[in-house]
Amino acid sequence: MSLIIALNKGRILSEVLPLLADAGIESLEDPQQSRRLIFPTSHPDVRLIVVRSSDVPTCVEHGAAAIGVTGKDTLLEHGEGGFYEPLDLGIARCRLMTAGLIDAPAPLRPRLRVATKFVNVARRFYSARGQQVDLIRLGGAMELAPLIGLADQIVDIVDTGRTLAANGLEPKETVAEISSRVVVNKAAMKRQAGLILPLLDALERAVALRQQQEAKP
Ligand code: PRP
Repeated sequence: MSLIIALNKGRILSEVLPLLADAGIESLEDPQQSRRLIFPTSHPDVRLIVVRSSDVPTCVEHGAAAIGVTGKDTLLEHGEGGFYEPLDLGIARCRLMTAGLIDAPAPLRPRLRVATKFVNVARRFYSARGQQVDLIRLGGAMELAPLIGLADQIVDIVDTGRTLAANGLEPKETVAEISSRVVVNKAAMKRQAGLILPLLDALERAVALRQQQEAKP
């Protein structure tokens, strides 16, 4: 029985493809250069699909893909009960942070307005601190929100910090440390253990090797 691995479009894809190749799964066509959405691989029983980040957990939860790779940010926002999360690939590392205008005075209104596409994560974060906020859902370019008076703070991914700095914003608190994770459909883990477990082992070895190489001076 064959299986599908759902990969996250964009930054993660370029980092995950070499790891998969090291684990013996090489796409027969470069997904970064193609308009196709489903790719046969060097492994006769494995195909790759390339989807938006938020669609990775959806595909895996429903069993359309047995395995998925996406950021912890996406998994935290989606909710984590629907699949196993056996492996941290240690790639695409960044932080989910709150941020706001540099030296902004405390807002006059009682509730902080927070713009983000991570509304579930943000709701949990502020509520755990006992802080009531009004959440404003945005699809992207969150950094704009404080600049145009749409929000007092944002919750967004910070990697180098350049986007914040370029917009006169500063990071405030870390909400979560992020890296790419492997998720596996629960039923598939049982039904296709013979295919999935060796693949997870090979990926784990590829990750360990890469981390050893990176640690060398
Ligand atoms: C992410 C994030 C920030 C930026 C942070 O956006 O939303 O805007 O990267 O990176 P930096 O700290 O290195 O500047 P991305 O480019 O992934 O696009 P997106 O808005 O579609 O998520």
